[in-house]
Amino acid sequence: MKNQEGDDVHIPNQLPDAIRKGFERQFWEIWYKGQTPKEREIKWLPGKRPAQVAEEFLEYLWLVCSCVEPAVLEIGVAQGQQRRFYFDLLECSFYEGLDINRDVAATMYGDSTDPDIIKLLMENQPDGWDIIFIDGDHSREGVRKDFDTYQQMIRPGGFLAFHDTHHDHWERVDGAAVLWSTIDKYRYENTWDIYHEADYTPYHKGTKERKQCGIGLIQMPVGAIE
Ligand SMILES: C[S@@+](CC[C@H](N)C(=O)[O-])C[C@H]1O[C@@H](n2cnc3c(N)ncnc32)[C@H](O)[C@@H]1O
Repeated sequence: MKNQEGDDVHIPNQLPDAIRKGFERQFWEIWYKGQTPKEREIKWLPGKRPAQVAEEFLEYLWLVCSCVEPAVLEIGVAQGQQRRFYFDLLECSFYEGLDINRDVAATMYGDSTDPDIIKLLMENQPDGWDIIFIDGDHSREGVRKDFDTYQQMIRPGGFLAFHDTHHDHWERVDGAAVLWSTIDKYRYENTWDIYHEADYTPYHKGTKERKQCGIGLIQMPVGAIE
């Protein structure tokens, strides 16, 4: 598909129902892989699943699956549970997972705001990354810095996602929610406010408290940003 200027544009989510059903089936197989029947009943299991609301993560992956053999960068990987989705579902050609904490399952260690790390990641994909998922420092300043830095590293028509755009259960980490509510979404090719209201919390077992996360997804313009 080409835009008016004749550039190639990915139009996500235009695939037939049967493809969506197959995609969902595969997603849930990967989501529950290696878990006991008891574990499968637990909604929040970050040690064996991504620290994500499943429905939001599925929707995000579906929207970006138009990228062919994407190069994917995840900032903030924790237990490294997103990685297998990029290989097994999106068939990525390359995955890099950056984390500041050397005890976690990253492929690269360092601070996402460190100029040397930024340089390395730029050199790694000189034509730009296809997909970047920001889920590291959740403070207001931290999310803003990552957003400003990493949107420059996405190839035209590629995707930038960031987690916790509807975060409401811990004030100290409301950076993505504040940013998402203030960015000018009309500057981009497309934006999606992915949000599934969840009735559980990640770390407060047994409470009726809600856990709101949210994934903000942006498709970068094919031309220059004005
Ligand atoms: C919420 S967890 C990531 C969850 C993971 N993306 C998933 O879906 O399962 C946040 C991670 O970001 C890392 N982190 C925090 N600040 C960072 C920074 N400035 N640079 C890189 N990683 C950072 C933390 O060490 C932590 O492992």
